[in-house]
Amino acid sequence: VAERVRITDVSPRDGLQNEPGVIAAAGKVRLVGALIEAGVDEVEVSSFVSPKWVPQLGDAAEVFAGVAEGLGSSGAGRGRRGVVLSALVPNEKGLEGALKVNAAAVGGDGARGGPLIGKVSVFAAASETFSQKNTNGSIDEVIARFGPVVRGAHGAGLRVRGYISTVIACPFEGAIEPGVVARVARKLIEVGVDELDLGDTIGAGTPGSVGAMLEAVRREVGSAWWDAERMTLHLHDTFGRAAECVVEALGRGVRSFDGAVAGLGGCPYASVPGRRAPGNISTEVLVRTVHAAGYVTGVDEAKLARAAEVARGLVAGGGGTASGAGERV
Ligand code: HMG
Ligand code: MG
Repeated sequence: VAERVRITDVSPRDGLQNEPGVIAAAGKVRLVGALIEAGVDEVEVSSFVSPKWVPQLGDAAEVFAGVAEGLGSSGAGRGRRGVVLSALVPNEKGLEGALKVNAAAVGGDGARGGPLIGKVSVFAAASETFSQKNTNGSIDEVIARFGPVVRGAHGAGLRVRGYISTVIACPFEGAIEPGVVARVARKLIEVGVDELDLGDTIGAGTPGSVGAMLEAVRREVGSAWWDAERMTLHLHDTFGRAAECVVEALGRGVRSFDGAVAGLGGCPYASVPGRRAPGNISTEVLVRTVHAAGYVTGVDEAKLARAAEVARGLVAGGGGTASGAGERV
């Protein structure tokens, strides 16, 4: 039997956080619904970060409320597919925001009976400069904030994903040593995360550099971390090489990947003057690549193409969407 690969779509978060305008919550809710319908395993819906830092996602609670309503009325979503909904939280305040949403959530849990937000993601970096620019603290300071976040999340029955950004290169410091990534991975594990997500924030990776980085991380954390539930690769696609990197990672046993439908995405704090941070690998290319390599996913490619239409409609300011009206607020 073909092996299963886990697909997470991060477009509502990593995609829309990098748009110059703020997209209306109702549009984001539609996008999440289309992604659930397409059969992805997980949707990263939004972030509970400072709205001064990322105003694009200041409506996280409203978006989750809309998603909950959709799940409740249609019977789709968690109950039927067991899709996991997640959000970024940089600190305790962010976790509080996520837990408040869970407490207020309406709509059916279906058979699973879990909370609406089933997973929160903390994020650290392998570059000190990027850590300062993105989260206003050194790598160690930022990881120290995660201790109470992880304990609080686990206490509430949530899983915790731990991102590491700039695993290949930093927009400010250049190439990052694989050994540095491995040490940050170790620290995240020590703070209690359930899974790691390795982010090539600026899409600098090649099969060679991604392979070397994965090898260093695996040596440090051990093969026990190398399964679909615990190790994910998060690629951006600046130079069109992300699909090759997926193939390389599959060959090295990685069974979980992030993508953003329609190739939206990029971290605003990874942008440098004159060069905006590039988009994520599109979930369409990701899924096609994984299927072509002989693995199965839960994704229906035709429905995924429809979700990509929704995404393109949102960032085009409403063009091509059902409402026809501008999506930005
Ligand atoms: P700070 O300014 O040092 O925070 O920012 P602070 O604790 O000093 O608080 C300052 C103000 O922010 C206070 O408000 C807080 O209440 C508020 P004020 O008193 O001034 O009115 N605040 C918050 N509000 C809402 N939710 C919160 C929150 N925390 C504080 N959680 C902080 C530190 C981490 C908060 C800030 O730097 C931040 O929010 N950064 C987020 C940046 C971000 O979201 N970047 C994009 C995601 S990472 C990414 O894209 C990479 C990834 O895709 C992987 C890859 O590609 O590599 C994941
Ligand atoms: Mg990213």
